[in-house]
Amino acid sequence: MNKFYLTTPIFYINDVPHIGHAYVTVAADILARYYKEKLGEENVFFLTGTDEHGAKIAEAAKDAGKNPKEFADDIVPKFEEAWKLLNIDYSHFFRTTDPRHEKKVSEILQKIYNKGLIYEGVYEGLYCVGCEKFLAESDLVEEKCPLHPNLTPVHQKEKNYFFKLSEFKKDLIGWFEKGTVEILPKSKKSEILGKLRDELKDIAISREGVSWGIPIPWDGKQTIYVWVEALFNYYTATQFLENKKDFWPADVHLIGKDILWFHTVIWVALLKAADLELPKSVFATGFFTINGAKMSKSAGNSISPKELVDKFGVDATRFLLVSRFPFGQDGDFSFEKLTEAYNAELANGLGNLVSRVAKLCESADFTQNSDSDSHVENKEEYDSAINDFRLEDAASIVWGRIGELDRFVDSEKPWELVKRRDPKIKSVLAHLVDGILEISGILRPFMPETTERIEKQFSEAKIKSAPPLFPRI
Ligand code: MSP
Repeated sequence: MNKFYLTTPIFYINDVPHIGHAYVTVAADILARYYKEKLGEENVFFLTGTDEHGAKIAEAAKDAGKNPKEFADDIVPKFEEAWKLLNIDYSHFFRTTDPRHEKKVSEILQKIYNKGLIYEGVYEGLYCVGCEKFLAESDLVEEKCPLHPNLTPVHQKEKNYFFKLSEFKKDLIGWFEKGTVEILPKSKKSEILGKLRDELKDIAISREGVSWGIPIPWDGKQTIYVWVEALFNYYTATQFLENKKDFWPADVHLIGKDILWFHTVIWVALLKAADLELPKSVFATGFFTINGAKMSKSAGNSISPKELVDKFGVDATRFLLVSRFPFGQDGDFSFEKLTEAYNAELANGLGNLVSRVAKLCESADFTQNSDSDSHVENKEEYDSAINDFRLEDAASIVWGRIGELDRFVDSEKPWELVKRRDPKIKSVLAHLVDGILEISGILRPFMPETTERIEKQFSEAKIKSAPPLFPRI
């Protein structure tokens, strides 16, 4: 593997960015930073962006008294700012209103149409504008969409173009079973396969009543269903950006579990229909909730990334978001629990060790060998945790090391060695400094600024004390 392409979902802009959006984006940034170190910056392509068409956005724009494009132009900077605040180093910020995307998607759809895989029909059923999808009776809970209980599903009957999704059923089962397209975590794979083995119906891929979208190339009265064009962002970006063609197919689409069906069954069938290569894997994250709530505009309970950053700082926020529970599962947090973890692991754990060792080096007037080399001892364990998307395991490798180093300090009592002017102090401190640099190496993708500070501080010939990395709160 000499290149790595990963994506986040492109976010709806009816909502300003909240912690749920930040969760998957921070995780993607951590993976991207890891692969950049491993493969070189130019061999990693990390795509994120915004999903700007469709009924939901048109309605939000109308409520705001703006036209949809103006509305989008106002909200998009909020995502860019949030990602900047969280130090997200994406390669490209994708917008579905980019005319280069619109052109590519039309061409692809026309191709699928020419192959006879799209036909005209009538759709009648319930539609959830919140999800931008048709709902089956069996999806409803008390006659409402379970994800948007505040919105009433709308009954719709309209002429639509349909994609022959059902024709792909057998192939899809084969690809997912064989792992041609890996569905991760594994539990999700059986969930999708189970549902897929039930009946698979063709899907409507155009909308008659929604003008805010990309026109169907052969019928100007219809627009392309927002999900269909949004999915293609992952591919079109590689085609219209310079020197990115070789990145397709994607190595992983990181998404939330709510949109896994779209990213497996529908996306893979559409790609095949367009004779394009299939992504290698799709990983569904769980939900990060605070006080039990999945954040959304409709529920009115969003917590912004800024609220966490103001309280904990950027790196601690990044770390706390991805290290609290197994990546791929749901986890509920309260500010109290996050504060507890911050104080225990970062202020008292990492921060304390770093300042303890720096003070010892300073008081011993320790001069470091310029060739002191630090290597990650559990590199294989670390690499395999990252390769398997076990971000929490990769991060937790450091707690063992911090514990060992703390115990080493307690048993060697370097302050006594300093007092006695015992020459052993040199090797004791060298060991501790190497340990800290090793921990820093592991945490680099998680906490880019903090680890840069640590590396700077501990690479000096004369190591000095510095203000605490994580002040207690
Ligand atoms: N626009 C579509 C995606 C199109 S991708 C081709 C969409 N957008 S969204 O803004 O509603 O949500 C996108 C993603 O945000 C979810 O799949 C999930 O990854 C993330 N999250 C939103 N709320 C979340 C939590 N509370 N917790 C974790 N992630 C959640 O769906």
